[in-house]
Amino acid sequence: MRIQAFRNWFDQYVAGFTAGEDTAPDLVTNIHLKKDHSERVVKEMAWMAAQLDLDNKARDLAAVMALFHDIGRFEQYARYRTFVDHRSANHAELGVKVLRQHRVLDGLPPDQADLICRVISYHNRAALPDDDTEECLFYARMLRDADKLDIWRVLIDHYQRQDRDNNPAVELGLPDTPDISDRVFAHVVNAQIVEARHIRNLNDFKLLQIGWVFDINFLPALQQVKDRGYIEAICRTLPPSDHVTRIEQAVATWFHRKLPAISANHTRAGT
Ligand SMILES: [Fe+2]
Repeated sequence: MRIQAFRNWFDQYVAGFTAGEDTAPDLVTNIHLKKDHSERVVKEMAWMAAQLDLDNKARDLAAVMALFHDIGRFEQYARYRTFVDHRSANHAELGVKVLRQHRVLDGLPPDQADLICRVISYHNRAALPDDDTEECLFYARMLRDADKLDIWRVLIDHYQRQDRDNNPAVELGLPDTPDISDRVFAHVVNAQIVEARHIRNLNDFKLLQIGWVFDINFLPALQQVKDRGYIEAICRTLPPSDHVTRIEQAVATWFHRKLPAISANHTRAGT
């Protein structure tokens, strides 16, 4: 598989959105945001493929899935000026449409092209379907983990910025009010994924992002979440409260339960 040809197409396609001299600043910012994110997800995916000891063919497939997973984001933002799918278009489905329209995967065997499209179309679903092949679901799980590993970083970078008002697209335009919704809190302390429809403000949205930790599929990815301190970093951007302490405890318990061997090693190394 010629990965470089896909990269070239990607670069050209994305550059097309900011080609004009009078391109709006928000468009430039958000096209770059998603371009950089896509490139970093390729790296996260390659790291995961190595951890999972995949062969070269599988690594190539994983790379293409990662590179194109958010290809729909560019047209979505350019057309609707938002990343909120329910107010615009499902960006995963839109991405598959873009790949088909531009015949990007035509050089691949049809079964591989089809697999790539299915995995991309599943990457933003609340839950994976249970009626696809094990192979497809395996890649979809990998992609969802790799995607989250980078999205956490994007969001934390954003929350820590002084000038975050400059890009409301990242916060989906949610109000920055001080409370946390009871239902959202209850889901996270019970190690459950938060549903987008329950979100009322920015704090709830942060809790939804914390709850992604319960949806990580592979242990090496979960270990990365812990080692990179993503959850603590998000918690530090929430107003301090007993609720936040309890959330941190719930996540610590989750890490301890899911990563028992590694936790034990760390304990030994520390004594
Ligand atoms: Fe996406």
